[in-house]
Amino acid sequence: MERGQFSSKLGFIMAAAGAAVGLGNIWGFPTQVASNGGGAFVLVYLLLAFCLAYPALMAELIVGRYARANAVIALPMLSERKALKRLGQGVGIAGLVTVAVILSFYAIIAGWLFSFALAPLASSVGGSQISDWLMAFSIERNVAFTLIFMVATILIIGAGVSQGIERWTKGMMPALVLILLALIAYMLTLPGAIDGLKHYLVPDFSRIFEPSLIISALGQAFFSLSLGVGCMLIYGSYLSSNENIVKVGAWVTIIDVALAFVAGLLIIPAMYVAAHYGVEIFDKNGDLHDSDKLIFTVLPALFAQMGGVGQLVSFAFFLLMSLAALTSSISLLEVPVAYVVEGHKVARKRASWVIGSLVTLLSLTIVFNFEWLFGLVIMITTQYSQPILGLFFCVFAGWIWHRDSALSEIKKGFAGAQDSLFWKIWPWYVRFVCPLFILLMFIHALWGQ
Ligand code: TRP
Repeated sequence: MERGQFSSKLGFIMAAAGAAVGLGNIWGFPTQVASNGGGAFVLVYLLLAFCLAYPALMAELIVGRYARANAVIALPMLSERKALKRLGQGVGIAGLVTVAVILSFYAIIAGWLFSFALAPLASSVGGSQISDWLMAFSIERNVAFTLIFMVATILIIGAGVSQGIERWTKGMMPALVLILLALIAYMLTLPGAIDGLKHYLVPDFSRIFEPSLIISALGQAFFSLSLGVGCMLIYGSYLSSNENIVKVGAWVTIIDVALAFVAGLLIIPAMYVAAHYGVEIFDKNGDLHDSDKLIFTVLPALFAQMGGVGQLVSFAFFLLMSLAALTSSISLLEVPVAYVVEGHKVARKRASWVIGSLVTLLSLTIVFNFEWLFGLVIMITTQYSQPILGLFFCVFAGWIWHRDSALSEIKKGFAGAQDSLFWKIWPWYVRFVCPLFILLMFIHALWGQ
């Protein structure tokens, strides 16, 4: 079978960055910062993203390009031993399951974004009741918009790699950055913003060793870079051999981390601005009210301050965010679909609809049991499954795969790889630092409870 491939380096970086940039950056990261004491979380996050998540990302990209297949096929290719082949398959399948569950909650939040994008449109044509409905938390709205979002995801994935994924990403990301920067500039003129900025940028060093903070930061970094489930492995499998994979991976990491950082620069000060205008952000104990809905309270409060243009800005912002979520959700659905298409020779369209429908059922189950299921599912997949599976990906790339094969794969698009700083550090990193750190953190967290 002809494998799809990205048509250019920029196309790949944008698509992989598009997969990485999404709710994790603009909804997840600021929410975690706000729940975990501000600057201390930011500092730990930045460290973990570059020192642990980037090497793990490289492990997936390199193995993916070498194997030119999804994780369930790729991981067993790294060893001759039967038992290890079986383990590889198991890790790949655990990744598929995790990714399906992640998509099921992702679609719910993405649906909120889309309904918030439509709300200003509704009110501008006089439908203020509709607009209220769109912005209020209800089962009906959640069902409707989860369905809309899932169908959009299924349609794009059904269409295939370069047609679908690449086309959607190119224009959207620069527009998103521009609107974020403009909003930050505006927000900083409002009362309370500077206090928020301090909270965001000045770390409270006494908190940086808190186990729960570190676990949350690690989960957040793995979620944001889409690791541990074979998603980036698949993107690697679509990358041309002429590209310098080390550089491409670094760009994806930088873009992803930068966008999260910029989003925090907007949301955290905006919380303080909203509080100044009387929006309740914290409860009596100083904990966040409804942390999952943070940006959906804070941002509308900010847009309301802007007068007439606020509606327009609100529309543009939430629409761009919905698109950013879409470029991520297609990367999520791509993982199980690629497996079924390649492993079981099912047609792409059919596979997209069947798997997409199963995920939708799971989504609806969460919508109907929101109070107890939503947070639980997020915690299990992002804080436990992803880092633990990421650990296995590192073990496969570092211990089970031959060093020479890894090097020759990297050298394909990067002739001097063997003398590079990357090659001096990375093999050692995926062998020891990443697995040990992830392991120690879990032990520490379990003991520290
Ligand atoms: N990283 C994306 C975000 O931040 C979400 C995402 C896309 C993802 N693909 C993934 C998360 C694979 C985990 C695994 O919104």
